[in-house]
Amino acid sequence: MTLTPEDGIYPDCLRAADVLRAGGIVAFPTETVYGLGADAENAKAVERIFAVKDRPLSHPLIVHLGGASQLDDWATAAPDSARLLAERFWPGPLTLVLRRSGRVPLAVTGGLETVALRVPAHAVALSLLSTFGGGIAAPSANRFGAVSPTTASHVCEGLGSAVDYLLDGGPSRVGVESTIVDLTGAQPALLRPGGVTREELEQALGCTVLTDARCALPAPGRHPSHYAPQAKVLLVAQDEILTEARRLRAERHRVGLLLPSPFASAQASDTEHVVIVVPDSMVEYARRLYEFLWEFDRRGCDAIVASLPCEDGLGLAIADRLRRAAGRGHYKDAGASAKSQKTAL
Ligand code: TXA
Ligand code: MG
Repeated sequence: MTLTPEDGIYPDCLRAADVLRAGGIVAFPTETVYGLGADAENAKAVERIFAVKDRPLSHPLIVHLGGASQLDDWATAAPDSARLLAERFWPGPLTLVLRRSGRVPLAVTGGLETVALRVPAHAVALSLLSTFGGGIAAPSANRFGAVSPTTASHVCEGLGSAVDYLLDGGPSRVGVESTIVDLTGAQPALLRPGGVTREELEQALGCTVLTDARCALPAPGRHPSHYAPQAKVLLVAQDEILTEARRLRAERHRVGLLLPSPFASAQASDTEHVVIVVPDSMVEYARRLYEFLWEFDRRGCDAIVASLPCEDGLGLAIADRLRRAAGRGHYKDAGASAKSQKTAL
């Protein structure tokens, strides 16, 4: 694959766009995670995405656009707040939920009258979108319920030959999915925390964003057991990670640890576990979180012990994904105790 741009167009994107036009499905890089794309206006191609992912048809997809100027082609009656956020954050890890236009097939929205739109901030994705010209409906390129891919090899591992064409754009820079904001109600509502922080949104909008909103339909990013690796994830307090890992080890589990750096030296003499030291920077942690979960699976762990980071900035999205990996509910459900997790193994 020759991913070198000529005038901003990557040669492989020409082929990938042809695959989309022929009704095929293309895995492509974005700054958040890899997407599995189809022509958003081809209901048959969109249905294939659901089949390949093993995803229920009622779970809506995000339509990816090449630029904010296309917003009114895909949404109707977009409020000023949509334009403001699009101008501020697109291209970028923000998805806007708006009323759908007639251009959006119900196959994409799972029957909803709303549509989720985003312009990804990745040169290869933007090259594909501009070459293709239309909207690309794309969920993350993983099987339903599994960990999202942040590299092309994750996509191969998870979906293999089920994909017609794979564009390799290197590791994803943001590493967690886009933030989803619903702008169809009286007040903006955060449906999924992600690469754009709640603080950034509120600052741009000049108002608070609802954080306890629910989707009209069950949706995968809001499913309690979404983003789960093969191994069971247990969430405990930071200073209990090593004790918990030793307890599980004594029960003959192969244990992976996501260890905050202050505790890293304490385990230097403890070589029985697979240890990944969590980056101190939240940007770096978000970027690598899914890579870490893939790594534990690859190294044969059947249990992962971790703790939640502070939930401001990107910490909110990281904590949300860790909770879902542990099979817990919505990110507001902060209270579930470590004990109930322990009995799960
Ligand atoms: O970063 C991302 O958003 C990645 C990349 C590939 O763009 N995509 C992604 O797609 O995470 P997916 O399908 O894994 O998650 C899409 C989320 C789902 O949780 C779904 O609920 C929500 O978008 N969604 C889509 N359409 C919606 C709608 N009309 N109303 C509410 N939520 C919607
Ligand atoms: Mg997904």
